[in-house]
Amino acid sequence: MNHITWHPQSVTRSDRNARYRHKSGVVWLTGLSGSGKSTIANALDAALFQEGTHTYVLDGDNVRHGLNNGLGFTAEDRQENIRRIAEVAKLFSDAGLIVITAFISPFREDRERAKQIIGEHQWIEVYVQCAIQTCMDRDPKGLYAKAVKGEIAHFTGISSPYEPPEAPNVVVDTEAGSLQQCVHTIKDALRGWIT
Ligand code: ADX
Repeated sequence: MNHITWHPQSVTRSDRNARYRHKSGVVWLTGLSGSGKSTIANALDAALFQEGTHTYVLDGDNVRHGLNNGLGFTAEDRQENIRRIAEVAKLFSDAGLIVITAFISPFREDRERAKQIIGEHQWIEVYVQCAIQTCMDRDPKGLYAKAVKGEIAHFTGISSPYEPPEAPNVVVDTEAGSLQQCVHTIKDALRGWIT
């Protein structure tokens, strides 16, 4: 980059981790629309916050209202969506927070890039598993019905692919387990960060 120099900051991530008494990083939820990502992200956030952990949720629909408004659902736009989220999540992680992200993030390559941006020791990938038929039955926003009729282009699972993670750190199945069980499973995986 021309004429731009990185300025080191005096207060480091590890200083903040020591002050907040837990490590920081990103819990990256990926899964189909309607699989339960936002519900789990919010419940996990509430549970951790209650215990004094410094957390924050970045959620697809919300981020697309602000920072990423203007981005659509082509592969290129999703790639840029995920890149920006990863950069923001990295900043929050540097600021000492445990960030919980809830984005479909359907492409392996984009998730891999996000992991590289954030750093693999600050990254926990959670696959929120749910059969497409169940997501379609739930259809909380009525979007699958529209996608099936061809009223929404590039809809994940219908007219755009979803690539499940090959080696996620955690899998939660929202058909088999309750919300509390899913939250518990993810909290278990966070034991190395929160002592
Ligand atoms: S991502 O693929 O780029 O990661 P993101 O998580 O930000 O997607 O946004 C997904 C949300 O946008 C869905 O939960 C749904 O409410 C809405 N949405 C609107 N159009 C689409 C579409 N074509 N495919 C998937 N989700 C869509």
